[in-house]
Amino acid sequence: LFTAVFILTADYIKNRRPGSFPPGPRAFPIVGNLFTVDYNRTHESLTQVTDLAERYGDVYSLRMGQTWIVVLNRFDVLKEALVDQGDVLADRPNLPLLQDISQGLGVIFSNGKIWKQQRRFALSTLKHFGFGKKSLKPVILEEFSYCAKEFKSHKGKPFDPHLILNNAVSNIICSLVFGHRFEYGDEKFMELMSWFGKGLELEASIWAQLYNSFPLLMRRLPGPHQTVQHIWNSVKDFIRVEVKEHKHNWDPSDNRDYIDCYLSEIQMADDTFDEENLVVCVFDLFLAGSETTSTTLRWAFLYMVKYPEIQAKVQAEIDKVVGTSRQPSMEDRADLPYTDAVIHEIQRMSNIVPLSLPHVTTRDIRLGGYTIPKVMTIIPNLTSVLFDKNEWETPDAFNPGHFLNPEGKFVKRAAFIPFSAGKRVCLGENLARMELFLFFTSLMQHFTFSMPAGVKPVMDFRFGITLSPLPYEVCLTSR
Ligand code: HEM
Repeated sequence: LFTAVFILTADYIKNRRPGSFPPGPRAFPIVGNLFTVDYNRTHESLTQVTDLAERYGDVYSLRMGQTWIVVLNRFDVLKEALVDQGDVLADRPNLPLLQDISQGLGVIFSNGKIWKQQRRFALSTLKHFGFGKKSLKPVILEEFSYCAKEFKSHKGKPFDPHLILNNAVSNIICSLVFGHRFEYGDEKFMELMSWFGKGLELEASIWAQLYNSFPLLMRRLPGPHQTVQHIWNSVKDFIRVEVKEHKHNWDPSDNRDYIDCYLSEIQMADDTFDEENLVVCVFDLFLAGSETTSTTLRWAFLYMVKYPEIQAKVQAEIDKVVGTSRQPSMEDRADLPYTDAVIHEIQRMSNIVPLSLPHVTTRDIRLGGYTIPKVMTIIPNLTSVLFDKNEWETPDAFNPGHFLNPEGKFVKRAAFIPFSAGKRVCLGENLARMELFLFFTSLMQHFTFSMPAGVKPVMDFRFGITLSPLPYEVCLTSR
């Protein structure tokens, strides 16, 4: 009894918050609000859907075990935090599961000097290969040709496009970092892709939350949290083999890809550039760059079959501006306002990174009238912005009109932030936009999408850091 009273008292004293701290639902001793969140629909548990923001305001707190988090809602609050006070929120929290994997290296989960140097290097290399002299545009369009051939091989019969899309989009990152692509159906590569999906799902599960809340205990216990480590280590081993091969036939005067550039950088700069950091950076580009874009395209298929009249309008615009004899290019974008608006609306509605990635405060800040202390985990709730009824005319309906003015011209919307905002804004935003535009327009130019006879599209999702559609089959008829 004495031990129990001691533990509860210590827990109470440790977790007392000052009156100026953001409010939140009542937290239970020891576990806090850990079990009040539905980890299959975490983003919904944390949004207005469950009335938390309605009840406690746009800045509220939750206690996940021994860790407090502050959830930020709506555009003005997110802008004030991530952009206006961006310096204070540029770091990631020290979450045990993420730290065990990244060891503070790479881009996504690093901080301070490592993050600054690695992000700058990744951005400039992406710019060089993605948009500079060695543009990725032909790579994307060539990859589309392989992808279209696979789609055509199904001859209009129902099939699940998941693996082909994953392979196609990942091949673009592969060309960038490894300098080569993988054949569709390559067993080793397919295994790598399935690891990513599984790993992300486990990262968002209750097991990951328990691990982050009670790392000392969980490290000793078996369970899916151990599988996550195993999965990510296997991905890193895959990358190590590629790095080894690159070192073997590397010519510093002809850097073919990201790995070659990084090897040159290791030679030139001592600082934070070494082989272990290279492996984690490649891991990060893969993790962030393949699942995201291919998931968005899978949602695009679903929205096009759900709204055939919108699909027909997009096709008519592409037929008129691009025609059928040449491939679409980025220069066509300005002349395809309706198609552009549809792509933006697909991104808004599919909301694939609903809670962004966590940030942490590096000093005390004032937000929404509250004081948020140093080293507090911050969750920017992108869902609350992308579906805010004050920002969008019909927030819950698929409506390309959100991005069109009355004359049918494309209009930018400030609340369109699927890539987040501020210092940690998605590093691959430009590449992702280019991939989405070229793939989507090429798909619409070549195929008409429909559901198998008698089947209705299911718009439900699976949550695992990203929101992905449930497996489905679709028919692609050549136009
Ligand atoms: C970070 C969204 C594609 C690389 C992020 C973040 C979001 C996001 C919401 C978190 C930002 C924050 O912490 O505030 C998306 C979406 C994509 C996409 C919706 C596609 C539709 C890509 C691609 C790449 C990429 C293609 C790689 C080439 C990264 C990296 C980070 C990141 C490295 C971490 C940035 C940092 O911590 O400094 N992305 N992303 N993303 N993304 Fe993306």
